[in-house]
Amino acid sequence: MIVGSTKENLTLEKRIAINPETAKNIIGLGLKVCIEKNYAKHLGIEDKEFSNIGVEIKNSSEEVLSSCNLLIKVNCPSEKEINGLKEKTIIIGMLNPSKNKNQINEIIKKKLNIFSLELLPRITRAQSMDVLSSQSNLAGYRAVIESVAEFERAVPMMMTAAGTVPAAKILVIGAGVAGLQAIATAKRLGAIVSATDVRAASKEQVESLGGRFLTIEQSEDMETSDGYAKEASDEYKKKQAEMMREALKKNDIVICTALIPGKPAPRILTEELVKLMKPGSIIYDLAAEQGGNSAFSEPGKINLVNGIKIVGVKNLMNRLPLTASSLYAKNLFSFIRNLYSKDKKDFNINLEDEIINKTLIKEV
Ligand code: NAI
Repeated sequence: MIVGSTKENLTLEKRIAINPETAKNIIGLGLKVCIEKNYAKHLGIEDKEFSNIGVEIKNSSEEVLSSCNLLIKVNCPSEKEINGLKEKTIIIGMLNPSKNKNQINEIIKKKLNIFSLELLPRITRAQSMDVLSSQSNLAGYRAVIESVAEFERAVPMMMTAAGTVPAAKILVIGAGVAGLQAIATAKRLGAIVSATDVRAASKEQVESLGGRFLTIEQSEDMETSDGYAKEASDEYKKKQAEMMREALKKNDIVICTALIPGKPAPRILTEELVKLMKPGSIIYDLAAEQGGNSAFSEPGKINLVNGIKIVGVKNLMNRLPLTASSLYAKNLFSFIRNLYSKDKKDFNINLEDEIINKTLIKEV
């Protein structure tokens, strides 16, 4: 059985699905691996680092596609790539089924098996495969680094002979995976950090990282049995806007990470609220590609309103592709290890396994 990977569209995606470390692990399972020539050259990884451990380097993507039994990708393969695959090939990646309906329909029509790792159940056994967590964690870290780079002042308090520089105040909206890492990163840089979330359970996590939790009193439980957030009621939104009115005047940087799975991003910062911030402040919106938590946020753009920069994120993982690839490739390896049966020497699509059943796309 051969596991193959082809280059992504490098203008959009710098991450890779397999690196020398995970290639070695896959070969260790008893599988063969092949990649396209210059697969990871853009990240400074030469073909010989792969070939030295037994990976076959093919001259073109077509050769990889026509020989592999399992294709691993970061993003959804193109229609041309899909057409180059053999019957019964398995595809694994972050395929974004709602965005890539045409390609996925094409894949299903061709009777190929396709697994999308964003659909993994959040259960203990799937933790090592959880691509959303591994990438969001990095997104939270990088959001702080990027917003601080846009901020034209220092972050930590500094006492110098020339006077005291006050610490910057950073507010994190949404304390899930990305939000908690943003809090930890902002604390490490010396900021005064506060955070808010609809889920009451997140208070303890925010405080354990040294952040101040901004509580919004509510009668309703805003957490689902799966641990995700419910959509906020009108009453909650009103109370949240009142709290924001005060918080925004005091904070220098706001990192937006609020998300409700399967829904457009909740709009928390209205135009009126944004304009309450001081000139020179930054709003960094990680949810920009899902519609944005903040007014004036557009993916891939920095909009300046009353001296406030609203940064809309796009392809943030391209700012740290080596780390993002290393975690993503490990997530993929864990998934392959679970899918491959050493005894049968074949991939075992066992629908009784919750991980396999939930990630296999049956229709879009
Ligand atoms: P998550 O589901 O772990 O966290 C989202 C948090 O928002 C939850 O704690 C939830 O309770 C909270 N929330 C929901 N509605 C809220 C509201 N009205 N007010 C306050 N809090 C609310 O999600 P995760 O993985 O941390 O992702 C956060 C955002 O970052 C998402 O929009 C995601 O798409 C984006 N992201 C962007 C990346 C990029 O490269 N552009 C990479 C990874 C994540």
